[in-house]
Amino acid sequence: MSTNETKKVVVTGAAGQIAYSLLFRIANGDVYGKETPVELKLLEIPQAVKATEGVAMELLDSAFPLLKNIEITDDANKAFDSANMGFLVGAKPRGKGMERADLLAENGKIFGPQGKAINDNAADDIRILVVGNPANTNALIAQQHAQDVPAERFTAMVRLDHNRAMSQLATKLGVSSTELEKIVVWGNHSGTQFPDLTNATVGGESVMDKIDQDWYTGEFIPKVAGRGGAIIEARGSSSAASAASAAIDHMHDWVNGTNGKWVSAALPSDGSYGIPEGIVSGFPVTSNGCKWEIVQGLDLTDFQKERIAKTVEELESERDTVRKNGLID
Ligand code: NAD
Ligand code: LMR
Repeated sequence: MSTNETKKVVVTGAAGQIAYSLLFRIANGDVYGKETPVELKLLEIPQAVKATEGVAMELLDSAFPLLKNIEITDDANKAFDSANMGFLVGAKPRGKGMERADLLAENGKIFGPQGKAINDNAADDIRILVVGNPANTNALIAQQHAQDVPAERFTAMVRLDHNRAMSQLATKLGVSSTELEKIVVWGNHSGTQFPDLTNATVGGESVMDKIDQDWYTGEFIPKVAGRGGAIIEARGSSSAASAASAAIDHMHDWVNGTNGKWVSAALPSDGSYGIPEGIVSGFPVTSNGCKWEIVQGLDLTDFQKERIAKTVEELESERDTVRKNGLID
């Protein structure tokens, strides 16, 4: 929804790798559009405040016409004061040989206090995207500490997986990704995720009629689900620019609407498709500019049910772990 009103956007982990790409895109108007001024509120840990000041200098040196103000703080209450949007990026990335869930003990602690700061300080229209891993369960932790904010405002990022799926499929079919529709990433942003092509179309025709099952289950699904690890192997550090780009896509589509087009976003489940209420799971969604809506009425095949059950089981186990560790009630 394009507006001339200045929007206050919080980015946590502002001195990190993802933020170094993300901040410049937000300041350029890539989320709210070219008529909406933005004020950036950068949250970091005290040791990284000086580096954040350097990033802010570069943002100013870019002379973005829409960038009205930059505030840097290590206090979450100040950062989220009157905030309209929050990108929760600040968290440790995994290294080679680790699973994202291995980060839960260390990173999970960050999201309770930030959820409370959002609850106590943010504007009524706050929208949150959790990027820091393990993103789904960190979003659950933040949401559980913000009982005055509608749960649906807390989302986690599976859009990078969605974009990876689009790109792999477009390459396989020799088409532009703009011809592809109805790709879905269900479940967790992890190795168990289910990049689902059952309803996908290319130029309006079924994708399943154009690919063979062996490629789908033996190459496509593992490649999309394992892409984060492959990037860490090749780059020595985790994806950053593509993660920032996916975060922009998610927030842009949430704010501007998808015109009925399906994308993938992780939201607190309302029980749709038997996914237990409350856990933050990837779903097929559309946005009307205000709210994500889960696409309803899909008749799931046994294969879909089996793959969704596997990733949901992992999300339930992560939820039980953080409950046991006192990070949620
Ligand atoms: P990074 O280490 O470069 O930056 C992280 C920043 O967060 C650091 O500057 C650190 O000081 C800051 N930070 C730590 N604790 C904080 C806190 N409590 N408040 C504010 N800031 C804090 O890491 P990165 O490459 O930018 O990745 C950030 C996170 O995003 C990682 O957890 C990574 O695994 C995750 N990630 C998620 C996806 C996804 O698709 N969901 C994709 C890529 C990366
Ligand atoms: C990714 O998918 O690239 C990120 O979640 C980083 C990671 O740990 O794989």
